[in-house]
Amino acid sequence: MSELAPSILSADFTHLGEQLQLIEHSGTKVLHIDVMDGMFVPSISFGMPVIRSIRKECGLFFDVHLMIQEPVRYIKEFVDAGADSITIHVEACEDVQATIDAMAQYPVKKALSINPATSIDILEPYLDQIDMILVMGVEPGFGGQKLITETLEKVKGLDQIRKERGYSFKIEFDGGVNRENLKEIIKNGTDIAVAGTAVFRGKIEENVRDLQEVIAGAS
Ligand code: DX5
Ligand code: ZN
Repeated sequence: MSELAPSILSADFTHLGEQLQLIEHSGTKVLHIDVMDGMFVPSISFGMPVIRSIRKECGLFFDVHLMIQEPVRYIKEFVDAGADSITIHVEACEDVQATIDAMAQYPVKKALSINPATSIDILEPYLDQIDMILVMGVEPGFGGQKLITETLEKVKGLDQIRKERGYSFKIEFDGGVNRENLKEIIKNGTDIAVAGTAVFRGKIEENVRDLQEVIAGAS
């Protein structure tokens, strides 16, 4: 069955510990962690110190989404901080293969992400080397944006490719996910749906339960 990955970008950082406990108790397994550098994307979020400190309290799978220029420079640091999976953007790397090779040196899942304007064709040389592909449903950089519907075609295309050719990569979808569009996102082939605003705005437990219900109905 597909799963939900709450994105802490939309959390209330003055109550981050309590909010993570609610997430953990809701039966969620994956936590999506957005790192932004003010270069690859206009915004700056947080980095290793925050990840390191929540790692001490939280048993969830840490799905670290690096929206940073030349992430090859920081792979070891994010692994040491507690990442279980690292997602890099192909658009942010001068040498994607070298960045995958750097991730392969550590016990961490390797994932590639593509922006809304980037075609899935760019992923072709790497499909047999990676654990996951993150399809962005919005321009990376901010939570609370509206999903760009055309990006779902890429999920469908990747799902078809992996079925036809026997690849085992998972497909994650990130940006603009809500209760109304989640069913279609899952039906197109998404294994992990990231949701920031849809989880953290209002009552977290109710939001997670509602979103999980949609996933169960669509899977
Ligand atoms: C956007 C981030 C997303 C963001 C999603 O650049 O990668 O993970 O937190 O937020 P929502 O679900 O509000 O679109
Ligand atoms: Zn993200």
